[in-house]
Amino acid sequence: MPTFAFHTYGCQMNVRESEAAARALLDAGHTQAPSEEEADIVIVNTCSVRGKAEDKALGKLGLLCASKRERPGRVVGVMGCMAQRLGEELFKRLPRLDFAIGTRCAERVAPAVEAALQGRSTLALRGPHEQPDAPSGHVVEGFSAFVTILLGCNRRCTYCIVPDVRGDEWSRPAREVLAEVRALAEQGVREVTLLGQSIMNYGLRTPAFDESDPPSPGGYTIPFPRLLEAVAAIPGIERIRFTSGHPAGVNDELIRLFREEPKLCRHLHLPVQSGSDAVLSRMRRGYTREGYLSAVARLREAVPDLALTTDVIVGFPGETEEDFQATRTLMEEAHFDNAFIFKYSPRPGTVSATWEDDVSDEEKARRNQILLEDQDARGTQINEALVGTVQTVLAEGPSLRNKTRWSGRTSGNKIVVFTPPEGLRPGDTLSLTITRAAPQTLYAD
Ligand code: 5AD
Ligand code: SF4
Repeated sequence: MPTFAFHTYGCQMNVRESEAAARALLDAGHTQAPSEEEADIVIVNTCSVRGKAEDKALGKLGLLCASKRERPGRVVGVMGCMAQRLGEELFKRLPRLDFAIGTRCAERVAPAVEAALQGRSTLALRGPHEQPDAPSGHVVEGFSAFVTILLGCNRRCTYCIVPDVRGDEWSRPAREVLAEVRALAEQGVREVTLLGQSIMNYGLRTPAFDESDPPSPGGYTIPFPRLLEAVAAIPGIERIRFTSGHPAGVNDELIRLFREEPKLCRHLHLPVQSGSDAVLSRMRRGYTREGYLSAVARLREAVPDLALTTDVIVGFPGETEEDFQATRTLMEEAHFDNAFIFKYSPRPGTVSATWEDDVSDEEKARRNQILLEDQDARGTQINEALVGTVQTVLAEGPSLRNKTRWSGRTSGNKIVVFTPPEGLRPGDTLSLTITRAAPQTLYAD
């Protein structure tokens, strides 16, 4: 049987969808190739969130399609956000491409592979208002797994392509999610990360959704904090993470769970995007600087050891030096443990793409660099304060840099490098005293 490999760009949602597609290929009798070079079938899962992400995927696909000259039987396919956005056009750009499968129909990947092996190409796209396929199959290899609970996004931030390429928000029925987590726990999974673009909207049906669609077919949904509790009640699950958050979802119920539910990890990814009210309003983020900081203050007061991470965009249209400085001071006030900083990239079809992209590339790079340096200093300071504390670490396996040492994660999602005791297995929990800190890593020597 032909062997396959996935090359996955973008967010955890894509990692999850590649995994579900891999499961379907394994079930059809294919095997995982030892490397991408050797694979008979290569599937590129793509991201559209920034222009650069698309350029990389197109470059990769170009090389793969060119490799078919020497290997005529090779199958090359594309899935994910860029496949959804460009669709038919991809076949014009890449004449040797075998298939393009959009975002809401990932179950079409395995049939498209079979068709390609018989010499037929496939283009499958599902409309933004149609019910999506939720990724459900898993390739369980370790103690940790992703579970998608919410697909699509209804927020419509002005810079963001996600609602266009991933469609309307759709909550999976709770009983389907819980059955999936139960099955994972029975296979030895100890940690689950629940995924959704705006995950705290889980179980809320927004008016736009109600008007155009029937309620979630096949079951009920429940509010997000209830779902977290139900997942925590599943025997075998020791840690629960979720991403991404929005300040609107930081309610008393969620804060109570962070305080009282030991299985809920003390980490929240809460993208802020900007610290300037003028920019936040043009981004249509649905909160002000003060609103965001008040959500942070409520969290910090109730859960002092909560680690907070964020996403920031620099160089949004019209972002002045003053707006940028407001982002700097917000980041200091919120005291983020980590931050992902992105240079604004206009995306076709979004509202902000109709506005002038008036911050120069050099200026975006400068602002990006300043925020990175600020964050590095802040990260070091936060991590140094952890030296001497005892952390509960879930062991992951040998460290990438030094195989004699292992790495694992704290509840706050910080990486800890340590010398493994005899007989340690991935997924085991240890209590470690932190002896040293770097901006991104803790050490327990
Ligand atoms: N340009 C730059 N960054 C973007 N993001 C989303 N859209 C854009 C864009 N057009 C960033 C946001 C989001 C993260 C996943 O990517 O910060 O939270
Ligand atoms: Fe994009 Fe906003 Fe949805 Fe996040 S919440 S995916 S930034 S539209």
